[in-house]
Amino acid sequence: MRQTLAFDIYGTLIDPQRIAETLEAWIGEQAPALARAWREKQLEYTFRRGLMGAYADFDVCTEQALQYCCAAQGITLSAEQEAELLERYRPLPAFDDAAPALEALRAAGHRLFAFSNGTAETVSGLLRQAELDTYFADMVCVDEIGRFKPDPVVYRHFLQRANVPVTEAWLISGNPFDVIGAQAVGMQTVWLDRPGQGLFDPWGVEPAATIQRLAELPTLEGVAPHGQT
Ligand code: LAC
Repeated sequence: MRQTLAFDIYGTLIDPQRIAETLEAWIGEQAPALARAWREKQLEYTFRRGLMGAYADFDVCTEQALQYCCAAQGITLSAEQEAELLERYRPLPAFDDAAPALEALRAAGHRLFAFSNGTAETVSGLLRQAELDTYFADMVCVDEIGRFKPDPVVYRHFLQRANVPVTEAWLISGNPFDVIGAQAVGMQTVWLDRPGQGLFDPWGVEPAATIQRLAELPTLEGVAPHGQT
C-alpha cells in the first residue's frame, strides 16, 4: 500500500558531523568534539526556544550554538572563519545510503516528504546540493508555523500539509527525540540507529522498526510493496 514517508533531514539524510572536515584545518583534533557539541547545543536551543515560546529559526539556533560552543571550549574563530563555517553548514553532504533508498521508495510508489526543523530556504538548498531534492513530493519545514519538533503541533501540521491520515504516515529519523515525538501523535516510526548502539531514550516507547541503514527501509513490513516483505 502506498504510504506517506516523512524523512527527518539532519542526522538522517544529511550528515552534520561532516562539518568537522572544515573545522579540522583550523583546530586540528578538537574538530570532531566541537562538531558534536555544536550539534547538541543547536538541538538544545531549539528545545529551549520551543518551551519558552520564543521561536528563532534553525539557522539562528545553529549560529548561536556555534558561538556558545567555541566560547565553552576556549576556541577563538575569526569573524571570517565563523561566517565560512556557517556557509559550509548549508551544503552539508548526504549519507551515502540516502539517494538509493529514496530512489527505491519512490519507485515503489510511496510519497516522500522532507520534514525538518530547518528553514525551508536552507533545507531546499541543502537537498538540492546533495541531489536529493527530486525524490520528494514536497517539503514541510517548521518555519511555516514557528514551532520545533518534537512539539506535537509540528507533527499534526505535517499530517495536514501532506493530507494524510495518521495511520498511513511514517516518520523516518535518526533522532530518538523525533521518533518519540511522532509516535506520540500516532504516526508510525522508524528509528535509524546509524551507530548501532541501541541508545534510545528509555521512555517506554518502541519505534515500529529500528534499522541501521536506509537500505533496509524499502523492505520493511508495512513499507515494502505487498508480497516483498
Ligand atoms: C531536522 C533536525 C532536527 O532535520 O534533525 O529536523
